[in-house]
Amino acid sequence: MAPAPRRPLISGNWKMHHNHFEAISLVQKLQYILNDEDHDAVDVSVHPPFTDLRSVQTVIEADDLPIALGAQHCHWEDKGAFTGEVSPAFLAKLNVTYVIAGHSERRELFGETDDMVNRKAKAILAHGMTPILCCGETLEEREAGATDQKVSGQVRAALDGIDAEAVSGLVIAYEPIWAIGTGRTASADDAQAVCATVRSVVAEVAGADAAQSVRIQYGGSVKAANAVELMGQPDIDGALVGGASLVAEDFAGIVRFHQG
Ligand code: PGA
Repeated sequence: MAPAPRRPLISGNWKMHHNHFEAISLVQKLQYILNDEDHDAVDVSVHPPFTDLRSVQTVIEADDLPIALGAQHCHWEDKGAFTGEVSPAFLAKLNVTYVIAGHSERRELFGETDDMVNRKAKAILAHGMTPILCCGETLEEREAGATDQKVSGQVRAALDGIDAEAVSGLVIAYEPIWAIGTGRTASADDAQAVCATVRSVVAEVAGADAAQSVRIQYGGSVKAANAVELMGQPDIDGALVGGASLVAEDFAGIVRFHQG
């Protein structure tokens, strides 16, 4: 039997943008623009800042919107003396579906390590949510020919000790660091090549079935103008979008890649 096709997932990572009023307005606009055809073809998630989550959850649930609620980060412990951190249990209570872990901004600016990403991935899964595990190389690493080594190492570390069935349901986002927020995008061929490497690492650690089902997003200056080509690659199953997810029309333009 042919394996089930992977449903594309377009995720908007709002980073530290939009207060809860702006967040409500953006989700409402998005829902106004997106139609049933879009939701039939593509899964959509939004990842507002923590202070917006409850407001956005309320809008999504009150209007039964087919948009998944996502978070940008969490701690790996359920509770404790971790000033400023957010428990995955609290996110699960807000009906969060996806939690980003190991975004390069968290790794570079806030000292997140591979080990922390792995602990978070397990905690997110333990609470019935789906991790979006980020990986990606710096420009220096790319120029030194070390992209595959860096990305493979990050993926192996993130998945360590996670069983194959759980791996098959998660999401990995390949985001070359030099392409994030810079307006520079990896060429579709380069992005495809690294995403194929990511899938082969998943096959190594969790088997062929998990590799076939795991969804791999590309991230880094994705816009409506490059989305069709990127999403058309065999190993790219969606996008993690920063800047272009902050404006409803721009984000909807990316979701509409399915129109070709
Ligand atoms: P960008 O950000 O689309 O603004 O490059 C992507 C991300 O960091 O997730």
